[in-house]
Amino acid sequence: MSGEELARKCGISRTMVWKHIKSLEREGFGIEAVPSQGYKITTTPDILRPGDIKPGLKTAVIGKKIQFLPEVASTNTLAMEMAADGAPEGTLVIAETQTGGKGRLGRKWISPKGNLYLSVVLRPNIPIHKAPLITLTGAVAVASAIRTTCGLKAGIKWPNDILLSDKKVSGLLTEMSAEQDRIRHIVLGIGIDVNMEMGELPPEVRSLTTTLAAEAGAKINRTALLQQILRDLDRWYQKFLDNDAEVLEEWKKLNTTVGNRITVSGAREALEGLAQGVDRDGRLVVRLDDGTIRTVAAGDVTIVKGKI
Ligand code: BTN
Repeated sequence: MSGEELARKCGISRTMVWKHIKSLEREGFGIEAVPSQGYKITTTPDILRPGDIKPGLKTAVIGKKIQFLPEVASTNTLAMEMAADGAPEGTLVIAETQTGGKGRLGRKWISPKGNLYLSVVLRPNIPIHKAPLITLTGAVAVASAIRTTCGLKAGIKWPNDILLSDKKVSGLLTEMSAEQDRIRHIVLGIGIDVNMEMGELPPEVRSLTTTLAAEAGAKINRTALLQQILRDLDRWYQKFLDNDAEVLEEWKKLNTTVGNRITVSGAREALEGLAQGVDRDGRLVVRLDDGTIRTVAAGDVTIVKGKI
């Protein structure tokens, strides 16, 4: 587009257009200026810009308010603080990198630049025992968004790991504040390994982890993926509030755990048996070899290959 046309459309001078072009170049955009023709964007940088997230989002609740940070200790911790201070439902906290990212079962979530780290404030009017289903709802949204945006067959490992070719690409961590039997607020945290270099991870987790870029064979547009996650979360969260059985049905379609022989560790007791299904509250139902049925609320699942 010519500088003149840009100036007219934006209602600014040609000099201001030039200044903005220079500032976009400093942000990492590749811009070609062809004399007597105009400017052309040739490459876009892999940065998240808060102003790019909202346009065209069209969600009812999720992402109505966005807090973007280049760096934060943990988006979950900040979102919990904002929720306690009255942040509205759907508030999104997103950061380029985390210095104290939190994983499940007290683990760390290594958070270099190039990935997605986000947390969403939710205020569902549901009984507390239904709260774990929020994580399953988030997992359905993330797996669907990866399928739509990247064309990759993302699956869910109980309770909420997103896998690609048996390797983890994303994890979800839900935190809750409640009093007696009433939920004050829930924060749904999502970490996705998108474009980072695998060398950023410690060797012990590298072999169990992958990135979307590595699986797709090309860098992923993080803004487009983020927008799709917010849209899918908006849709599935509404469905969850209307009828949680529908979410469970979709979770079952996407899950790779049920039907396999598994071990569960990190739970109250270590178990081995057949993953028979999930109950109405999202707990894993395991049939032990002596026929006993156990339901598990939390833990790490490993699929035992070659045995049923
Ligand atoms: C897991 O252990 O699989 C859960 C990982 C959750 C990581 C995300 S990144 C954004 C949000 N902020 C955090 O500190 N943790 C979650």
